[in-house]
Amino acid sequence: MVAAQERLIDETTITEPDAAPVLRSLADRLHDADFDEKNAAAAVGAPSPEQLLGHPARYAFFGGHRHPAPAPAAASVLTSLFILNQTLPAADVTAALPAALLADLRSLDLVSTTGERYRGRVSITPYRGQFFLSDQLFRSPAPHVVEPAEGTGLVMPPHTSTLLALSTVDSVEDSFLDIGCGTGFLALNAGRRVNRAAGFDLNPRCVAFATANAALNGSEARFTVADFATHQVEAQERFQAMLFNAPTIPTAQPGLSEIGQTTAEHVLNTTIEVAPRVLRPGGTAYVLGLVEVPQRLATATATVEHWLAGRTVEATVRELDTPSLTITRRELADRTLNGHSLLAFGRDQAQRLLTVLAERGVAAVVPVIISVRVAETERPTP
Ligand SMILES: C[S@@+](CC[C@H](N)C(=O)[O-])C[C@H]1O[C@@H](n2cnc3c(N)ncnc32)[C@H](O)[C@@H]1O
Repeated sequence: MVAAQERLIDETTITEPDAAPVLRSLADRLHDADFDEKNAAAAVGAPSPEQLLGHPARYAFFGGHRHPAPAPAAASVLTSLFILNQTLPAADVTAALPAALLADLRSLDLVSTTGERYRGRVSITPYRGQFFLSDQLFRSPAPHVVEPAEGTGLVMPPHTSTLLALSTVDSVEDSFLDIGCGTGFLALNAGRRVNRAAGFDLNPRCVAFATANAALNGSEARFTVADFATHQVEAQERFQAMLFNAPTIPTAQPGLSEIGQTTAEHVLNTTIEVAPRVLRPGGTAYVLGLVEVPQRLATATATVEHWLAGRTVEATVRELDTPSLTITRRELADRTLNGHSLLAFGRDQAQRLLTVLAERGVAAVVPVIISVRVAETERPTP
């Protein structure tokens, strides 16, 4: 259930059949307005698009919108409305955005206005020539004010871990299944060598947004509601690769956890069980997750090897050098978290998280991509 219903768009607005042509038209007009990740980063003075997409609330809080805007005016206004989730004077919006673009946004209910001011009702992330609709996880109604959205079941915009998963998806060939698809970003970015991409999510609102994002970007990818743990695919429909950017962020407050919140160990065990029912023999399952390294083990790789001890599984671990998703041994020992961390907001939350982790014997937290290969001869489990 979503608590803050009045703030969220009704997802049927973007999935009903009449919406599809308007979504296509919207994509063309966003392109024409030069709304892309580089212009968005330039508009807020971010050193890279990845910095902006990893920390949009921070850019909203610390000013975000630069005057005069170095990016084209329309891209700058779109960045404010749909990435920084700011409220803008109506005069600025109508001066910068072509009337036809504003008409598409209004027709899909993606903006609202009081007459004097405009605000976006969704987040729109431009990336590699495509656009991704999602919920706004925060709003910034005034400078130095950021209000987190309430409720569970929100559709997260593409974020740091999504972008980390992208290089793996880029290497996939033939067919790709996006597990826990969220906005559908990974399936819709599957590379040129992929001729079939699909995705599913436990959260029906994610599936609605992913379906709308496929329409928006002119993709044939199909998205369905399903649970990873019980998923299976008919033998002739199985995929060459699948990836689960899994919700494994450790939290000290259960209320803040994501849908399906789990541990990397649990996701890995489920992946080993599910992969033969979903992938072809010789296919590869990838899991992106955060490994909690116990004090008695040296590294995340050693921890995964410990989980797999005694099993005949062909698996490899790649540790990711991403400070915003890592808690080092030193940080845990000193009970201080780096200022760019995405694992806690503010000093109090960071302290609580580090204390909880230390109490349960965790020495470090490390993001990894684990790949599991299905044996050429493996028989699917019934
Ligand atoms: C970290 S988000 C990743 C979203 C998207 N793939 C991305 O990279 O931006 C995890 C997603 O997994 C979904 N999820 C959690 N548990 C699941 C399960 N058991 N089966 C399918 N999806 C699940 C959540 O609803 C959420 O959309």
